[in-house]
Amino acid sequence: MEEPVIQIRDLHKAFDGRPVLQGVNFDVHRGETMVIMGGSGSGKSTLLRLIIGSFKPERGSIKLLGEEMTTADRRTLDTVRQRFGILFQSGALFNSMTLAENVALPIHEHTQLDREIIDIQVKIKLELVGLLEAADKYPAQISGGMKKRAGLARALALDPEILFYDEPSAGLDPVTSAQIDQLILDLTRKLGVTSVVVTHEMDSAFTIADRMAMFDRGKMLAVEDRAWFDALRKTGDAESESMPEDKRLIRQFLRGAPEGPITERRDHGALARALMVEESVIHTPSILPTRG
Ligand SMILES: Nc1ncnc2c1ncn2[C@@H]1O[C@H](COP(=O)(O)OP(=O)(O)OP(=O)(O)O)[C@@H](O)[C@H]1O
Ligand SMILES: [Mg+2]
Repeated sequence: MEEPVIQIRDLHKAFDGRPVLQGVNFDVHRGETMVIMGGSGSGKSTLLRLIIGSFKPERGSIKLLGEEMTTADRRTLDTVRQRFGILFQSGALFNSMTLAENVALPIHEHTQLDREIIDIQVKIKLELVGLLEAADKYPAQISGGMKKRAGLARALALDPEILFYDEPSAGLDPVTSAQIDQLILDLTRKLGVTSVVVTHEMDSAFTIADRMAMFDRGKMLAVEDRAWFDALRKTGDAESESMPEDKRLIRQFLRGAPEGPITERRDHGALARALMVEESVIHTPSILPTRG
């Protein structure tokens, strides 16, 4: 079998001495869509930034397209960076440039192509995301969903082998969000692009994923195919009671349920820290009475 396009081993990262990633291991194979899920602050964006070489980890190995990103020099990083695209939460467009100019920028920077050829490339990319008609508009003149799509067109400018998405459908209406999902599916099926998608939207996750990874407090709790997560999501309450804590936690996340290991832990942990006592001595309901 071909070597994974992303291979992560024993990855550790801390900010100001506070651990954020604590021994992360996983692989992404060529052509698949990997969805990364996890609570807010669990370290998903940090993980993406480490993979693309924006940060260095304290420990561990990140192989991206065959290059060890943790020790790569500038030149190697620059070469690898031309082989993947990133769609950030905001779209991150340049406000002083039209959409067409935004998409053209990476092509101007990284290739020697003639202006006419670049124009054609830009038109193809804008057409792909349904924005050809808005080519001459500025970011301030378009909606949030259009910005996301324009950001995607720019991420596609250099025909990347891998696309990283950080919350591609956050803040979008359901139809626009479904269109983004469709685009991700099309890119995978038609162009063979490998996708790594961080998302909180479960409908979207189950639509696009080949495999899914559940991330919690800096660790991967599970990396399995979509069917595994789907079966877990549909498990009944009675059956779930005998499951190990990790599985119950993932199930709560997938179902967006208000009660379960995630919320129990959150309430006790926060209160224990505030009172500076052992977590185990606290036995309180999740909503504390304010009057006796
Ligand atoms: N550059 C940084 N400097 C210091 N702390 C950081 C930095 N980037 C992230 N953190 C911290 O690392 C933790 C993980 O943040 P991260 O942005 O990776 O979470 P996330 O899983 O993407 O959350 P969300 O779903 O809210 O986007 C947070 O506690 C955050 O405050
Ligand atoms: Mg994030």
